[in-house]
Amino acid sequence: MIITIEEAIIATGLKPASWAYAEAFIDEDEVLRAARTRAAEVSAVPVGSGAGAALRFVAGLISAKNVVEIGTGCGISGLWLMRGMRPDGVLTTVDIEAEHQRFAKVAFNEAGVAPQRVRLIPGSALEVLPRLTDGHYDLVFCDGDKLEYPQYLEQAVRLLRSGGVVAFDNSLWHDKVADPSVKDPETLAIRETLSTVRDSDSLLALLLPVGDGLLLAQKR
Ligand SMILES: C[S@@+](CC[C@H](N)C(=O)[O-])C[C@H]1O[C@@H](n2cnc3c(N)ncnc32)[C@H](O)[C@@H]1O
Repeated sequence: MIITIEEAIIATGLKPASWAYAEAFIDEDEVLRAARTRAAEVSAVPVGSGAGAALRFVAGLISAKNVVEIGTGCGISGLWLMRGMRPDGVLTTVDIEAEHQRFAKVAFNEAGVAPQRVRLIPGSALEVLPRLTDGHYDLVFCDGDKLEYPQYLEQAVRLLRSGGVVAFDNSLWHDKVADPSVKDPETLAIRETLSTVRDSDSLLALLLPVGDGLLLAQKR
């Protein structure tokens, strides 16, 4: 059954206060709050606490050991992911900005993360990802350049084991994805990623309306 957006809104019946309540349902600790302050200083917009908690949950659900993150930022999503991963899990995280990764390292140290649990790789995602091993990863989290989301998806499908999960932050992109009149290149790239994931026979898709939208897909 196809329902209209208006029918979907009526079906949820939720008011903005309920969305805000759900977003703040899982609180953040002092380490995450300090990382957010540093992220604001360098404009590396982090995942919200709702998306962070969802990432932690998924990483825990699949007992993730090997995780790739595109867009380290100042380490907020990395901390959430590591809190769900197995204690011996390794986060491989890529960012083009060395300063952001420097701040992420501060956050990981403050959280007491053992150095062998994080592989910080500086560089452009589309140069780094092809060097990573096929089928070796349990989870790939994409939060880098929105224009590159379709290519991140191709790389993620190659990197994931079967049963592994790919996640994309900003999948609702500040309400622009749902508005058909918006056709800027970033919105189009995110829409393309959403429809490729939804229409793929090899992926099981879920779009979570947490934060700015978190697209999840499990590789069959
Ligand atoms: C939205 S922020 C990531 C926030 C981070 N995931 C968090 O929650 O703390 C996006 C990051 O992607 C990085 N980035 C942008 N384009 C990139 C690219 N082509 N390759 C790798 N990193 C990139 C930026 O430097 C920035 O740190």
